[in-house]
Amino acid sequence: MSTKRIVITGATGLIGRKLVAELQNEYALVIFSRNPSRARDTLPGAADYVAWQPSEQGAWMSAIDGAWGVIHLAGAPISTGLLGKRWTPEYKAEIRNSRVIGTRGIVNAIAAASQRPNVFICASAVGYYGPYRDSTPLDESAPPGRDFLAQVCVAWEAEAARAESFGVRTVQLRTGLLLDPESGALPQIMLPFKLMTGGPILPGTQVYPWIHPADEVGLIRFALEDERVRGPLNAVAPGALPNREFAAILGKVLGSPSWLPVPEFSLRIALGEMADLVVYGQNAIPRKALDLGYQFRFPTLEPALRDLLKLPP
Ligand SMILES: NC(=O)c1ccc[n+]([C@@H]2O[C@H](COP(=O)([O-])OP(=O)(O)OC[C@H]3O[C@@H](n4cnc5c(N)ncnc54)[C@H](OP(=O)(O)O)[C@@H]3O)[C@@H](O)[C@H]2O)c1
Repeated sequence: MSTKRIVITGATGLIGRKLVAELQNEYALVIFSRNPSRARDTLPGAADYVAWQPSEQGAWMSAIDGAWGVIHLAGAPISTGLLGKRWTPEYKAEIRNSRVIGTRGIVNAIAAASQRPNVFICASAVGYYGPYRDSTPLDESAPPGRDFLAQVCVAWEAEAARAESFGVRTVQLRTGLLLDPESGALPQIMLPFKLMTGGPILPGTQVYPWIHPADEVGLIRFALEDERVRGPLNAVAPGALPNREFAAILGKVLGSPSWLPVPEFSLRIALGEMADLVVYGQNAIPRKALDLGYQFRFPTLEPALRDLLKLPP
């Protein structure tokens, strides 16, 4: 194992757990968590577990000094599902503050370090681009949107970008819809299909920029180890699809019809403002990753779903 220390926040989350499994044998991982003893139980084998929470400063700051890299994934869940928290004004403030203040504190610690990291990778999201119902292509140079999520991403990325002014290579990872059969959005998207009532979410033209976990982790490793990667990086597969086609492929893979369109008003009743996550999309394109030569393991949806659901190709 290398002696290079990598600090990871949000390591206990959906992406973080997979990232820890990928990096653990090669790097000395320092896991920052709001509950370090629970993190130790769920992710044994890291070099250290440090109590951290989103704040502008804290005792945890010294653990960043001398780290080779920092990967900052933590934040209050954005997509909480049908039974989860609604986007009340209070919860929207938590979504924003956990990211903006959390990132500010991490960058403050980077600034204060006597030995600063080589690289700082900070999560962001394709929500940066705002809500689209069409397939306008969006590479990393596209402008930000004006809705709530876009404004969160703009403020979050701006906090992360301060690390560049301290000479630290910084990457803002604009992740799309991470496909995981156990948690996140995919189980909820699959449920109506398993009940034989699946179909596109109207208007059906909105594009879902999905990514297979192997490529999410692959792109984080790429950003960590390849010094050419800098600034925003779309973490999405090249094969993003309009929702109508996404639903048709999901139905085909699950052996279930894709016939019952879901109207926006029913999602608004069920999810409130959070329905924005599914009635809009972004045709985000991984331009930077492709230009720099990253090889996607799962560039197209059907093989990605078959792999995740352990179905024959
Ligand atoms: N999954 C996706 O499809 C997706 C798509 C786009 C962007 N992203 C972004 O990528 C990052 C990682 O995603 P993920 O799906 O792995 O996230 P996740 O599973 O929802 O959560 C990651 C971690 O954040 C910490 N956390 C939870 N609530 C928090 C709060 N109120 N304040 C501070 N920390 C809190 C938790 O770690 P501890 O309990 O150990 O502190 C949690 O394990 C997030 O910032 C997310 O917005 C994810």
